[in-house]
Amino acid sequence: MSPDPWFDKWAKKAKELGYPARSVFKLIEIQEKFKIIQKGDTVLDLGASPGSWSKYTSQIIGEKGKVIGVDLEEIKVKLPNLFFLKRDVLELNPEEIKSLGIEKVDVILSDLAPKTMGDKWVDHLRSVELVEKVLELSLEVLKEGGHLVAKVFEGAQTPLLKKKMEKMFQKVKIFKPKSSRRESKEIFFIAQKFQGKPN
Ligand SMILES: C[S@@+](CC[C@H](N)C(=O)[O-])C[C@H]1O[C@@H](n2cnc3c(N)ncnc32)[C@H](O)[C@@H]1O
Repeated sequence: MSPDPWFDKWAKKAKELGYPARSVFKLIEIQEKFKIIQKGDTVLDLGASPGSWSKYTSQIIGEKGKVIGVDLEEIKVKLPNLFFLKRDVLELNPEEIKSLGIEKVDVILSDLAPKTMGDKWVDHLRSVELVEKVLELSLEVLKEGGHLVAKVFEGAQTPLLKKKMEKMFQKVKIFKPKSSRRESKEIFFIAQKFQGKPN
């Protein structure tokens, strides 16, 4: 059993609400503040397992929307508007998304987290590598005007990543949800209004 009462409180609350992980509260806070996801949207959820973000998203987008979840691990939720790809995101080819009949998506969510090694610098760099891949995918599959939420373990490369995003999106903010552990290095980029792939 976890000796951390903070963790237990959020995990229990998530379970009561029918979500497999407490991470759902971070997306709820993001959605309430930034209104990223709309009814009818097609959403790519990277690092989707065990499935809390996908489940919450699925409820917002409704039956006309779609969620495509991608993770190394199996997802624990089954929903009629959810497609799941068991893949390494670092090796994901945008054509695999297109092969589902989805040309472009309205929103990309990334709660991707590398397995932490206890070395903050290495964890940061591996997290940055994941965000870089998410940006690469955004260029190929995100609709012009679409939005991106991406988690990163904060560190020296954070300002560079933000600068890169500011070239791609009209507005980029950094957000630390209250439901994120205070000592955690995770922060979220909220990047709104994708300007499209440069020619
Ligand atoms: C914090 S969890 C995501 C929780 C999820 N948002 C939810 O609400 O249920 C991070 C996930 O990133 C996945 N992940 C890490 N590196 C990955 C990679 N290279 N490719 C695919 N998934 C990866 C992990 O397997 C893990 O499930």
